[in-house]
Amino acid sequence: MNQTEISQKNSDFWNELCGSHLAKTLGITDSSPESLKRFDDWYFDFYPYLFSHIPFGQLEGKDVLEVGLGYGTVSQRLAESGAKYTGLDIAAGPVAMANHRLKQENLNGIAVQGSILEPDFPAESFDTIVAIGCLHHTGNLRKAIAQCWKLLRPGGSLIFMVYYAYSYRRYRMVPLTTISHLLREATGYRGVVGASDDRERSAYDAGSTGVAAPHTDWISVRSLEMYCKDFASFSAVLENIDQEPPFGRTPRAALLKTRWPGLVGLDLYATAVK
Ligand SMILES: C[S@@+](CC[C@H](N)C(=O)[O-])C[C@H]1O[C@@H](n2cnc3c(N)ncnc32)[C@H](O)[C@@H]1O
Repeated sequence: MNQTEISQKNSDFWNELCGSHLAKTLGITDSSPESLKRFDDWYFDFYPYLFSHIPFGQLEGKDVLEVGLGYGTVSQRLAESGAKYTGLDIAAGPVAMANHRLKQENLNGIAVQGSILEPDFPAESFDTIVAIGCLHHTGNLRKAIAQCWKLLRPGGSLIFMVYYAYSYRRYRMVPLTTISHLLREATGYRGVVGASDDRERSAYDAGSTGVAAPHTDWISVRSLEMYCKDFASFSAVLENIDQEPPFGRTPRAALLKTRWPGLVGLDLYATAVK
């Protein structure tokens, strides 16, 4: 697929809000404040470490851009923190949900439809950019990061989550791809793990009919650091892990507190300061 096709497919696929299946299993059928609170409580319970990566308490008065909105849980929390909030998403559904939340809660801010690969904002417009689980779907992770760099003011932070190339899930699910990528990186290659099949992508993101997200990339810490080389500083931490053998018997909350997510976690949380 070329970039135009990936972006078109992303715009169609993600129009169904990421989290819709979860909302259904929670019995959520509307977007009233009570229903959204139920969704958000579940979300922050499931990803408790988000609070240690996104400095919600320090964003008041700051120009904050969120990229990739999904069900809008983080969007609402960013706006509630007193940030001057802007949301950007390639699909209409997440944009409508974020704007609905802002209006319903009487919060300042706006969400607009567009791609982070071609952002329609002046350079150096934002103090902070938050992109959880988005940039690896764009079709061009390197360019997405470069565009975020342009949009940040000097000293501004990009806080983002992308999928980790060497998670336990990857070693189990696609051992040959994972080991050959490891060997390739050992000989100096820097970049994402290339094209993947439907089975791989749907293990991470699937719509309510089970269809896989159109495009997904996985990356190592060192390759991500290279993609962030124009930033003044870069740090990364691994989070999240499946309850699959041999971790199946440990309750998820307890599993998250072990050393395993930090070693072979699914998600790479990075902060890059311009
Ligand atoms: C997996 S969802 C994550 C949503 C949310 N951040 C969360 O944590 O639940 C990925 C989101 O990124 C958006 N997205 C994909 N490609 C994009 C692009 N090129 N520009 C902006 N948003 C994009 C999708 O529309 C979708 O809403």
